[in-house]
Amino acid sequence: MAEDDIDVVADNEARAYPFPWSPAAFADCLRAEHECHVVELGGRTIGHGVVAVTLGEAQLLNVCIEPQAQGRGYGRALADFLLQRATARSATVVFLEVRPSNHVAIALYGTLGFRAIGRRRGYYQALVGREDALIMALDLNASTGAVELQ
Ligand SMILES: CC(C)(COP(=O)(O)OP(=O)(O)OC[C@H]1O[C@@H](n2cnc3c(N)ncnc32)[C@H](O)[C@@H]1OP(=O)(O)O)[C@@H](O)C(=O)NCCC(=O)NCCS
Repeated sequence: MAEDDIDVVADNEARAYPFPWSPAAFADCLRAEHECHVVELGGRTIGHGVVAVTLGEAQLLNVCIEPQAQGRGYGRALADFLLQRATARSATVVFLEVRPSNHVAIALYGTLGFRAIGRRRGYYQALVGREDALIMALDLNASTGAVELQ
């Protein structure tokens, strides 16, 4: 992802997600030199993802495929690629937060080996009130994918 991509990325984000990131949020991630990537199909940008890695710990911050391209394996390919980038930057564990109502994303993360390890109460703005965040983790070194925090 480059600064030139942000308009299209923000447009895809707004069509895919009821509470989209702002263009400024993507610009911040680029400035912070997080792993920011786009998915291109036939010259069109159809998805984007962001993973941040600090001191061996990765945060999967954003995974998005625009609505018309969903359900065809691109989200899985993107998430796989972001995990490879985290591994290349020496991450040993990946965390993410997801809305419990986001069944598609939770199913995807589950098949990648992520396991739920906790909740943040009322973390997200919702259409009515607030919604919890489910915290999921993946141990990149473990064959089971399970991670324990103490
Ligand atoms: C989550 C998202 C990235 C998945 O991308 P996608 O390209 O549609 O997903 P894929 O086609 O690669 O499918 C990956 C897995 O997701 C799950 N999945 C996909 N569509 C699904 C559906 N309609 N119902 C249930 N699970 C579904 C399945 O586990 C699927 O694996 P399988 O095909 O082996 O069964 C996409 O739906 C999206 O961008 N959503 C809006 C943004 C968002 O919510 N991002 C996550 C924030 S934490």
